[in-house]
Amino acid sequence: MAEQPKVTVKTFLPTQPLPPNSERKPFHTERLIIRPFTEDDVDGLHAIHRQPEVMIYTMKGRIDETKEETRKSMARFMPPNDLHTYSNIICLKSTGEIIGMGGVARPEQKFGWPEIGYMFKKEVWGQGYATEFLKALVSFWWTLPRSEIELGVDAQSVDGPGEVPEMLSALIDQSNIGSQRVLEKAGFREFKRWDEPDAREGHEGDVHLVGFVLSSAGQKGYRTVGSDVPVLEPTDQPPV
Ligand SMILES: CC(C)(COP(=O)(O)OP(=O)(O)OC[C@H]1O[C@@H](n2cnc3c(N)ncnc32)[C@H](O)[C@@H]1OP(=O)(O)O)[C@@H](O)C(=O)NCCC(=O)NCCS
Repeated sequence: MAEQPKVTVKTFLPTQPLPPNSERKPFHTERLIIRPFTEDDVDGLHAIHRQPEVMIYTMKGRIDETKEETRKSMARFMPPNDLHTYSNIICLKSTGEIIGMGGVARPEQKFGWPEIGYMFKKEVWGQGYATEFLKALVSFWWTLPRSEIELGVDAQSVDGPGEVPEMLSALIDQSNIGSQRVLEKAGFREFKRWDEPDAREGHEGDVHLVGFVLSSAGQKGYRTVGSDVPVLEPTDQPPV
C-alpha cells in the first residue's frame, strides 16, 4: 500500500500486550453479544467468508476457498496473536447465531493509529447491527489501560506535531457507502481521500480509498460499555 506522509505525535494507546482472549469478558449491547474468538467459531466465520458481497471489501478481495483458509485468517485473533489485536465474534443475543466479526485487527497501521474493521453476513445488513457493534466497541476500547507513546501518524489526521488526542482509524473503499455511513453514525470523521494501486487478488488498476478517524476527545457523549452493561458469565452464554 502507498505510504502516506507521517508526523510524530505524543499520545496514548492501549498498553501492549493487550489482555489475552482468555481474560476478556463478553459484553452485551441491546441485541448483540460481542466476545473473543474461539476455535469453535471457524464454521460460523467460514459461512461469512464464503459471501462475495462481504469479502469484496477485505484486503483479500475474494471468498475463502476452504475452511483452512478461514482458520488461518482467524489465527490473527487467537493466542498468541490476541496480545496484539482486539477482534471479536459478534452474535445475535436472541439466538446465539454468529452474524459478524470486528474490532481492531491492526494495532498501528496505515495511518499510524489503531485501525478498526468489521464484517456482517449479508442476510442481516441494514438493521443497524454494524452501528450498534461499532459504538459499543469504541466505548470499550477507550476503557483499556493506556500508556503514553510517541507515534508516527498520518499528517492529515492531526492538526500538527505535539500532543494530540488518541484516535482510532478506518480505511474504506469509496464505493462502500454503507460502511462510511456506519462510521459517521459512530462519530468518525472523514479526513482524506486518495487512489492507489489495487492490491486485492485478481483486481487491477487503482482503488479509491477514504480514511476516517475518531478522536478519543469526541467520546464524552458515549455510554461506557463495561460499567453499565451486564457482563456475561460463562453459564449465561447462548449456544453458538
Ligand atoms: C458495511 C456493513 C458492515 C454495514 O453493516 P450494517 O449492519 O448493514 O450497517 P447498519 O445497518 O448499522 O448501517 C448501514 C447504513 O448505511 C446505509 N447504507 C447502506 N448501503 C447504502 C448505500 N448503498 N447508499 C447509501 N446508504 C447506504 C444504511 O441505510 C444505513 O444508514 P442509516 O441507518 O442512516 O439508514 C456490511 O454491509 C458489511 O459487512 N459489508 C461487507 C464488509 C465491509 O464492507 N466491511 C467494512 C470494511 S472495514
